[in-house]
Amino acid sequence: MSAPTATPTRSAAPTGPVVLTLDDVSVDYLVEEPVHAVRNVSLQLGRGEVLGLAGESGCGKSTLAYAVTRLLKPPAVITSGTIEFQSREGYAVDLRALHGEDLRRFRWDKVAMVFQGAMNSLNPVIAIRAQLEDVYQTHRPEMGKRERRQRAGELLERVGVDRSRLRSFPHELSGGMRQRVMIAMALALEPQVLIMDEPTTALDVVVQREILDEISRLRDELGFAVVFITHDLPLLLEISDRIAVMKDGRIIELADARTLYTQPQHEYTRTLLSSFPSLTGERGAFVRTGVDETGATTSGTTDTPVAAAEEPDQSAPAPHEEDEA
Ligand SMILES: Nc1ncnc2c1ncn2[C@@H]1O[C@H](COP(=O)(O)OP(=O)(O)O)[C@@H](O)[C@H]1O
Ligand SMILES: [Mg+2]
Repeated sequence: MSAPTATPTRSAAPTGPVVLTLDDVSVDYLVEEPVHAVRNVSLQLGRGEVLGLAGESGCGKSTLAYAVTRLLKPPAVITSGTIEFQSREGYAVDLRALHGEDLRRFRWDKVAMVFQGAMNSLNPVIAIRAQLEDVYQTHRPEMGKRERRQRAGELLERVGVDRSRLRSFPHELSGGMRQRVMIAMALALEPQVLIMDEPTTALDVVVQREILDEISRLRDELGFAVVFITHDLPLLLEISDRIAVMKDGRIIELADARTLYTQPQHEYTRTLLSSFPSLTGERGAFVRTGVDETGATTSGTTDTPVAAAEEPDQSAPAPHEEDEA
């Protein structure tokens, strides 16, 4: 039974080739009072695009992300729909049909994920080098030790962490650095899709900004598509090509970022926008246009604050497991 979703008419489809297609995806949590966490979601992710997924806590964002990466555990059940990955190499994969080894391989190789609490999932007693090399050892068994070492160093530098940190243990790194390590790991096998679920929410704003700029740069360089999930709509407006607004498990509006900001169609989107005072003043204009009040244009999204925020460890946030409030 596919209940009609509010059909997003504007920019509902990406302009270029598609890498991921969700059609009528629903997920229930089969608890005493079943929760319809995701309801009839259909959307497409363009190759290389950044799709923002916005919506307040509990609307189903993480559940949708877990469904796409097939990381849902009981009592969650996908009750309808199809999820298809269209590989750069020209073949399609039905994600709901993947199991076991195929699924595991697919997950790192083609679609990778970074969570808010990811930085706390590094193994505390193993040096960063070994944890990075392990990804290659597992997924690229043909790779020699020398190349693994080389790659691990390159990966770390790619996300803006000095190679010398390979010797460090997780507790010796700041929260921001550990989250960068997790992003490095997610990018290790050059996936075509990167799903980020509140990846910077637990970090202070300067570190968050630096990491976002890094992701933008890497996306340009490597061409992966990003699904970026956050309740922080102003942030999404800055970094996304298109934005999907989720409410009560449904995508109620989907449009390119500028259109969503300037001509929101749905009452809920308007409410969401107006709940961020930073979007309504002049700063708001700056965020969307890249032109400040003086008329000066910025290059790229925003200027990167000078790297001053990577202070070691004390910035490490308290572990946020599972449901962030
Ligand atoms: N394990 C679970 N059992 C029952 N309900 C759950 C479970 N996990 C999440 N939910 C419910 O599913 C809905 C969507 O949750 P979630 O996907 O985490 O939302 P978001 O990521 O947008 O905050 C919420 O109502 C939440 O309470
Ligand atoms: Mg969530």
